[in-house]
Amino acid sequence: MKHISAPDSQTAALETARIVTDSIAINPQAVLGLATGNTMRPVYRALIDTAQQRAVSFKNVTSFNLDEYLGLPADHPALFARYMMDNLMRHIDMDKNRFHIPCGHTEDPTRTAQDYEAAIAAAGGIDLQLLGVGTNGHIGFNEPGSPRDSRTRVVKLSEQTRRDNFGAITGDGIPERAISMGLATIVSARSVILLATGASKTEAVAQILKGQNNPAWPCSYLSSHSDFTLITDSDARGEA
Ligand code: GLP
Repeated sequence: MKHISAPDSQTAALETARIVTDSIAINPQAVLGLATGNTMRPVYRALIDTAQQRAVSFKNVTSFNLDEYLGLPADHPALFARYMMDNLMRHIDMDKNRFHIPCGHTEDPTRTAQDYEAAIAAAGGIDLQLLGVGTNGHIGFNEPGSPRDSRTRVVKLSEQTRRDNFGAITGDGIPERAISMGLATIVSARSVILLATGASKTEAVAQILKGQNNPAWPCSYLSSHSDFTLITDSDARGEA
């Protein structure tokens, strides 16, 4: 494991974007695994800028997002498909047919998940997987206790995750399930970067740095990956 200790969240985001841009510059046909969440917003802003400055094209890049909520209306602002369009896709020259995200309003979610896993395999697997982390250590939507050998499937969201992601909004509108790449899908990526910023991620970072597989902290499975980079800011490291 490589650990990049950035002084602040902006530097951490810039560093993450630089690594992604470098990998596309080296391999213009890279298959990227992409993440959502607030942590990724400055990364995508920086990625759009650095790619433009360095004339790096996304034209032949393929991407697979980690996850999507099930059961939200197709125009719901919390959908990750919408997030990806707003934060990245509409600002780069990527062929939209090469952008993949599990469909959140499918009639048959189990089948959709299996087809998604098959599409990743058909693309030759993921070259570079970008990850954030949940406050409870989830990666994608692999909540604590998720099987180490899991592949893309329908998952139930924990109460903690529903609170973290929907905040003060309560009631029937908050999704209970999602489709998520599995832990085995994620660790099968050839390279993995996890970005953790902010004090709410301190415990997740500590669990990764322990270097032991702990089923209660799914993020800990990454420490044994052969090409894993952890990028943190000082808050996530718990520095005063
Ligand atoms: C969601 C996503 C995760 C992401 C997490 C962190 O739950 N499924 O992939 O890592 O949010 O979100 P944030 O960056 O907003 O803390």
